[in-house]
Amino acid sequence: MDSLNVAIIGAGAIHGCHVAALQHTPGVSLHALVDIDAEKGAALARRYGCRFYQDYHEMLTDMNIDAVHICTPHHLHREMIIAALAAGKQVFSEKPVGLSLAEVAQIREAAAGAEGVLGLCFQNRYNPTSQAIRAQLADGGIGQLRGMKASLTWSRGGDYYRPGGWRGRFATEGGSLLINQAIHTLDLMQWFAGGVTRVKGVVDSTLLSGVIETEDSAMATLEFSGGAYGVFHATTCYSADAALSLEIDGERGRLRLEENQLWRITGNARTLLAQDTPPDGDARNYWGDGHRRAIQQFYTTVRDPTRPVHVSLEDAACAQAIVEAIYRSSQIRQWISLAQ
Ligand SMILES: NC(=O)c1ccc[n+]([C@@H]2O[C@H](COP(=O)([O-])OP(=O)(O)OC[C@H]3O[C@@H](n4cnc5c(N)ncnc54)[C@H](O)[C@@H]3O)[C@@H](O)[C@H]2O)c1
Repeated sequence: MDSLNVAIIGAGAIHGCHVAALQHTPGVSLHALVDIDAEKGAALARRYGCRFYQDYHEMLTDMNIDAVHICTPHHLHREMIIAALAAGKQVFSEKPVGLSLAEVAQIREAAAGAEGVLGLCFQNRYNPTSQAIRAQLADGGIGQLRGMKASLTWSRGGDYYRPGGWRGRFATEGGSLLINQAIHTLDLMQWFAGGVTRVKGVVDSTLLSGVIETEDSAMATLEFSGGAYGVFHATTCYSADAALSLEIDGERGRLRLEENQLWRITGNARTLLAQDTPPDGDARNYWGDGHRRAIQQFYTTVRDPTRPVHVSLEDAACAQAIVEAIYRSSQIRQWISLAQ
């Protein structure tokens, strides 16, 4: 396969991470940028030395484009993923895969008959600390899983939720804290534990009440497939963006992620197992540094589809199901079972 030409749709906050990752990925180059904001998009395209399109449908007719990265608001993911797959492109989409599980089902149908690979951006799975946790759990080093706790405390004020913008509205963001920020944490918890069977939780808005329709705070208890429980707390009402704090309690020790470092704790002994490095481009540290790894992994699969190691639609659907179940649980104040 010759060098692959890539187009990015959406030239907002996250697109710079994709540009930086592509610059570090052999055999791919940025061919086009697409944004409905022509002034911003065209200026950025000039800076990157690539083509600019204002209409993504027009970009999809460009036969020189092999792959499309989707970096747009949540409500546009489904239509853009389906259109890009129908146009025969390889597709790498930002999370969440869609606004709901119903949208995920439509995307699954489109992906089943498509030539292109669909990869989803759950880049925190590629952090060295995440990989080390998976390896430790697979090795059985800390024994059987007894429990897990995770706390995500970030800061998002009124400026982030601009009036008239897509964030903070059910129709365009699909929720806020859970579906946008904490989906990564929930995905890691279920991935580390090997799946979630049921959840009970609550979401609410506190400091942003009256500013957003959606939630800025959440807590939940997750029942894992092996029978252990996980406790989860998240908010965007903190004064700063703190690194994810996560602990896994095993029969023979604990794994603790703090300040982007992974420690193994056995009795009074602490051993440093892994550390995440500063991210590429303009990625902020708390997003994790995995965009480059996730994107490189995606193109490895595109070149050799017998290596399905990228984060797939089914992986993304697991995280989406937990998010949706917590929203539902909060409404009806009941445990919600997840289909296995
Ligand atoms: N993986 C991560 O850690 C991470 C971090 C931040 C954001 N994201 C995700 O990235 C996506 C974008 O978020 P953002 O913060 O960059 O948003 P943003 O609002 O900063 O940027 C979105 C861009 O899309 C453009 N756009 C809107 N409609 C369009 C259309 N029809 N055609 C072309 N362009 C269009 C907007 O003009 C804007 O430039 C979201 O899915 C978000 O959840 C992921």
